[in-house]
Amino acid sequence: MIGKRKEEHIRIAENDDVSAFHNFWDDITLMHEADPEVNYDEIDTSVDFLGKKLKFPMIISSMTGGAEIAKNINRNLAIAAEKFGIGMGVGSMRAAILDRSIEDTYAVINESNVPLKIANIGAPQLVRQDKEAVSTKDIAYIYDLIKADFLAVHFNFLQEMVQPEGDRNSKGVIDRIRDLAGSFNIIAKETGSGFSRRTAERLIDAGVKAIEVSGVSGTTFAAVEYYRAKKENNLEKMRVGETFWNWGIPSPASVYYCSDLAPVIGSGGLRNGLDLAKAIAMGATAGGFARSLLKDADTAPEQLMKNIELIQREFRVALFLTGNKNVYELKFTKKIVADPLRSWLEAK
Ligand SMILES: Cc1cc2nc3c(=O)[nH]c(=O)nc-3n(C[C@H](O)[C@H](O)[C@H](O)COP(=O)(O)O)c2cc1C
Repeated sequence: MIGKRKEEHIRIAENDDVSAFHNFWDDITLMHEADPEVNYDEIDTSVDFLGKKLKFPMIISSMTGGAEIAKNINRNLAIAAEKFGIGMGVGSMRAAILDRSIEDTYAVINESNVPLKIANIGAPQLVRQDKEAVSTKDIAYIYDLIKADFLAVHFNFLQEMVQPEGDRNSKGVIDRIRDLAGSFNIIAKETGSGFSRRTAERLIDAGVKAIEVSGVSGTTFAAVEYYRAKKENNLEKMRVGETFWNWGIPSPASVYYCSDLAPVIGSGGLRNGLDLAKAIAMGATAGGFARSLLKDADTAPEQLMKNIELIQREFRVALFLTGNKNVYELKFTKKIVADPLRSWLEAK
């Protein structure tokens, strides 16, 4: 059942337009320096993410596992993560908790030497719904399964709300996170609607070590559920999906709200190395890419490699043209912010 839903999500994300109407990274321009006084070949793109060294500040955001096609996707993504020295998350691991026979669809990440690995579970599963919450033992199992460095707890309440049968209880999530934070390195992760400063502060107070913002700009799960509903001819669900299509906080605004609180992964709508540079300039420690890598990871692994190579090159070019010789300097580079993003930044 979960496997089938996962497969449906992948197919929809590959073939339908599930993006927010506006990509807020387009509202940012970085200041050009005509004479950068930098040797391109000496640019250092490496970063330290909470003790883990990345060759450049890119993370493959959590997407999949649990279905047969997911194993191939995760294998290809992990090979790329090793090759480029970047981080990687796997998709929600609830399926492996329920059925251990499919654990290999996640554990395949261990075949490669990925410098930073992120396990994944949904915030709704941390508390009781119409089923029991996942136990701490279950969490230890998924963490060990991929020899994780971090556990992403993903917040997807928009997606749950679009589905009439979705999980509807969020009471107690913060207490559960506080409890788990003693044993696991937790990243609080959104899935397309971003974190406000208020929520980020509460999560960090509960012991979360980093935030992956995944705000509005790229994939929206209201859209993914809209397309699922369309196939079922479920008009009510389609209507709610359409109404909330663009719901949430723009990705760059969420980075700006949270990055003085904890290390941030800027994600949601990143398409290229220039978007990645903008995420760092807004305060992120690294940037996360999801849907823009999915189809190639599924069907054209050599194209996946080419794409990441280009992201890396574009990122270096952005560093060069802004006159920065390393990622740390880029954080202080001058940026020009247009509306509507500018108004969002004022609401910090
Ligand atoms: C097919 C697909 C499946 C996803 N599954 C998960 C998941 O299981 N857990 C999770 O935390 N995020 C999941 N995400 C969300 C992504 O990690 C990311 O936060 C979101 O897609 C925004 O990034 P993007 O605009 O680059 O796609 C999924 C995204 C896609 C496209």
